[in-house]
This record gives sequence, C-alpha cells and structure tokens, in this order.
Amino acid sequence: MSCCEGGPGRHETPEELSRRAFLSRAAAFFGGLIGAVLTGVGLGYFISPALREKAGAWVDLGRAGNFKPGAPVLVEYTQRKRDSWITSETRSSAWVVTENGRDFTAFDPRCTHLGCPYRWNAQDKKFLCPCHTASFAMDGKVLGGPPPRPLDRYETKLEDGQLLILPQARA
Ligand code: FES
Repeated sequence: MSCCEGGPGRHETPEELSRRAFLSRAAAFFGGLIGAVLTGVGLGYFISPALREKAGAWVDLGRAGNFKPGAPVLVEYTQRKRDSWITSETRSSAWVVTENGRDFTAFDPRCTHLGCPYRWNAQDKKFLCPCHTASFAMDGKVLGGPPPRPLDRYETKLEDGQLLILPQARA
C-alpha cells in the first residue's frame, strides 16, 4: 500500500471515473422516479374526490315495479355529497309518477312558486300546494295559482329494474 492512496492530488483511474458517472446517473434516475411517483400519488389524492362525486350522483329509489300507475308517491332517500374530503348525508325526497308502469317522472318536491312542499290529492287527481293554493296536474303542469312554471323534474333512468334519479343540487 502506498503512503498517498486516496489523498489530495490523487488521480482517479478511468474505471473509478466511469463508476462515479454511473452512480451519479443512477441516483438522478431514481430520484426522478421517486419524484414522479409522489407527484402522481399527490395529484390522485387531490383529483379523485371530484371524479368520484360525479360517478355517484344517481340515487336508487327502489324497484320500478313497486310504483303503481296513476298513484304518485313521495319517496324519501339519502343523498351522499362529497365536498372535498368531507362526505355528508342529506335526507331528500322526490315525487315519483308513472302512468303506465314503464315510463317514470320524478318531481322536485318543492313548489315552483316559493318552494313549499306540496301534496298529492288522490280524490281530485292533482298536486296541491297549501301555501298560496296552487295546483298542478299529474304531469307537473300548472293548473292554477301563482307558480310561474311546471314542477321541476329530475332526470330518471331504469337499471336492472331499479328506478334511479339524478337530483339537482339544492341551493
Ligand atoms: S309556494 Fe306553492 S303556491 Fe306559493
């Protein structure tokens, strides 16, 4: 062993230089790889709640065959809403109407005048709002009173015999 091995002024052999260059490049590569993975995980953490919110917006109201033609029913359901990372549950309802057992309409349960809850009057076959004596037909059209428009509807669809609605966000 010589007295000056590894000391100042020592010249590296070509093999030592190429090993150092290799280790330096490997460190840069793995550093970049770890950074990319962490960035991907972070973006997924921030973005995925918004994507899941859209996917879960439909609400299942039960078997379509349970709704009797010509007899509107007020169905209560629980709506889960995700606001960033907080999930909350809200009890809501919708009037479900079918005249033939195949086509379904779901109405927002608030009167289109000032938002009072209305009721179905089976004897008169119309919806009645007690607040300012409005009335609506089974298809939601205004029959009388101050409402400026028909009842608001939710989008509906059938899946495997289940009736699903897409409620709009409430103010
Ligand atoms: S809120 Fe229904 S008629 Fe006014």
